Amino acid sequence: MKKIVIVYWSGSGNTETMAKSVAKGAGEGGGEVVIKPVGEATKDLVKGADALAFGCPAMGDEILEESEMEPFIASLGSAEVGGKALGLFGSYDWGDGKWMQDWVERMQGLGAKVDGTGIITQLEPSEEALSACYDLGKRLAG
Ligand SMILES: Cc1cc2nc3c(=O)[nH]c(=O)nc-3n(C[C@H](O)[C@H](O)[C@H](O)COP(=O)(O)O)c2cc1C
Repeated sequence: MKKIVIVYWSGSGNTETMAKSVAKGAGEGGGEVVIKPVGEATKDLVKGADALAFGCPAMGDEILEESEMEPFIASLGSAEVGGKALGLFGSYDWGDGKWMQDWVERMQGLGAKVDGTGIITQLEPSEEALSACYDLGKRLAG
């Protein structure tokens, strides 16, 4: 059974809703699922995963949330994410998704096998986005 670790930050709950859909898909896909808000996650948890999903909304000016998510992502290297399937997801509002494009490239730079181009949705997740999150979870578990 694959261990799927999902780590997210969410201020108003939109990205958290996406994280829960990823978890549902991964669980129903046969994975062992660990889902944590980033404040409760550790590098070792990420290192011990077979596949990963990280979620964070667009914050600041098209960047990751700065007090918890950015330092957590900055703490990771190829030892934690290299060669692993990794799904990225998050909610945004007025931007064009640049934060996600940058995040995908950054994680690819660490050697992660990033799933597609990341799942983004405007504000409260659409049904389509939640279904994409569910499918991501299933792929990660498969
Ligand atoms: C401080 C702050 C900065 C934000 N910066 C951006 C931004 O740069 N681009 C964007 O598209 N949305 C931005 N947003 C909107 C959020 O990404 C959006 O409200 C999202 O749904 C929040 O997700 P959450 O409910 O998971 O916290 C910002 C919101 C806040 C509160």
